Amino acid sequence: MPKSVRDILSMKNSKKITVITAYDYTTSQLCDKAGVDMVLVGDSAGMVMLGYDNTIPVTMEQMCLFTEAVARGRQNALVVADMPFMSYQSSKSQAIENAGRLIKAGADAVKLEGGVEIKDTIHAIVEIGIPVMGHIGFQPQTTTLQEGYKVQAKTKEAAMKLIDSAKSLEKAGVFSIALEMVTSEVSEIISRSISVPTIGIGSGPDCDGQVLVVHDVLGLYEKIKPKFAKRYLELSSDIVHAIESYKNDVTSGKFPGAEHSFSIDKTELERLRK
Ligand code: KIV
Ligand code: NA
Repeated sequence: MPKSVRDILSMKNSKKITVITAYDYTTSQLCDKAGVDMVLVGDSAGMVMLGYDNTIPVTMEQMCLFTEAVARGRQNALVVADMPFMSYQSSKSQAIENAGRLIKAGADAVKLEGGVEIKDTIHAIVEIGIPVMGHIGFQPQTTTLQEGYKVQAKTKEAAMKLIDSAKSLEKAGVFSIALEMVTSEVSEIISRSISVPTIGIGSGPDCDGQVLVVHDVLGLYEKIKPKFAKRYLELSSDIVHAIESYKNDVTSGKFPGAEHSFSIDKTELERLRK
């Protein structure tokens, strides 16, 4: 039985929650085997899987495909899927319909970017029985409106607005809130002010849990290397080396060897040669 939303809620104030993104079956299996609590099918897939410069072009069709693959790969972790840009902004019924599509694709919960301004949308989704994770602080889908890639909650006014948003999302019924690039002190205040877990990314050590993009953790994405993304491996150089070795073996005739090849029986070969 996979973890439930209730299991995640009960970890607040007792155990740190570990979340990582995944977008495909194999990676999902590995993350699950490592024992993470939640796997997030982030719309960061648009960047690390599809090569877009940002998450804005990501579609519902793409998110459903990634979600299906991740859901097939997990056993224990809760699967949360991002609602992509413009899949929930135009009306409550649009938001409910698209949240439902992600659930049918295999997600246990959905995540939406936005604060107090989308509390009614979130409430509508929760009301029909779909668990929602909030996402405030830096909101990649609307960077252009937010003066770009920037640390959030650096002034008293900005901090108070964020605390307000967190409280209104809690009231709307979210089971957790992602905090992206929020100053550590303000993350700590938010985490103490609400009863649902905060999941930080670039938001310091006092959140109730942490989330990272799996390509950052493994050292697979070279285009952007944010300060907050700890790289536990540098897999991209290992991968290039492995593929270079393969190429060298092919060009030198070292691959394939006998151990990678198949043979016909000797007698059959003799008959063939006659
Ligand atoms: O899309 C994503 O990967 C995310 C996390 C970084 C929070 O939203
Ligand atoms: Na996202």
